[in-house]
Amino acid sequence: MLCIAGYNLCKSYVDSDQSINVLTDATLEVETAKMICITGQSGCGKSTMLHILGLLDAADSGRVIIGGREISSMMPEAPQIRNSELGFVFQFHYLVEDLTAKENVALPMIIAGSSSVVAQKRASELLSTLGLASRLSRYPNQLSGGEQQRVSLARALINNPKIVLADEPTGNLDPDHSAEVWQMILQLNKQREQAFVIVTHDRESARLASQTYNLAQGKLSLLS
Ligand SMILES: Nc1ncnc2c1ncn2[C@@H]1O[C@H](COP(=O)(O)OP(=O)(O)O)[C@@H](O)[C@H]1O
Ligand SMILES: [Mg+2]
Repeated sequence: MLCIAGYNLCKSYVDSDQSINVLTDATLEVETAKMICITGQSGCGKSTMLHILGLLDAADSGRVIIGGREISSMMPEAPQIRNSELGFVFQFHYLVEDLTAKENVALPMIIAGSSSVVAQKRASELLSTLGLASRLSRYPNQLSGGEQQRVSLARALINNPKIVLADEPTGNLDPDHSAEVWQMILQLNKQREQAFVIVTHDRESARLASQTYNLAQGKLSLLS
């Protein structure tokens, strides 16, 4: 079953008086519980693709289907779908510096309507699953890069999204911490039946994926 798909996505940016065609006809179908990797040269449009799938940006044309429904980022329900159906992990962790790890992870659940007590309990459980039981009360600047990314992962997962979109989640990490985060992603993908769409430069890790696509000249093609 498809959980998220983008069909014939086109996107161009106007830069001074020049138009840059970033996506020209990009199509991606992601089935439930699959792990998909997207590779491609810097500047080829990978982040743009992920932002459009995640309703953070609008395509000029094409369709995004989430849970069997065509959704546009302009729809009034888009923020709610974004918060409940989708989880995001970025290259930079974007954790709130003056909230603890546990409070950061609880935030999307509180935004979705849970009480702070319930959300913080769930955040503690999730962080423990990710090996961070001893780090609950630490602030982001008291965590290593790998720990910060695992907290970001927990934050992306707290509302139990069916789809996790990750934009170079290990791009900022040394090889050991990177391996640690990939292992977590793999484990979550297997245990929780969540689909992952991961943009990565790491060809080695991309082999862990169910399918790998390359983005070039505005289109996605299947590599393996
Ligand atoms: N908001 C924007 N305005 C103008 N150009 C942009 C904007 N966002 C991205 N671009 C351009 O679009 C291209 C694709 O960017 P991006 O999706 O970030 O690539 P990637 O993630 O593959 O490195 C780049 O040439 C970038 O400079
Ligand atoms: Mg990018």
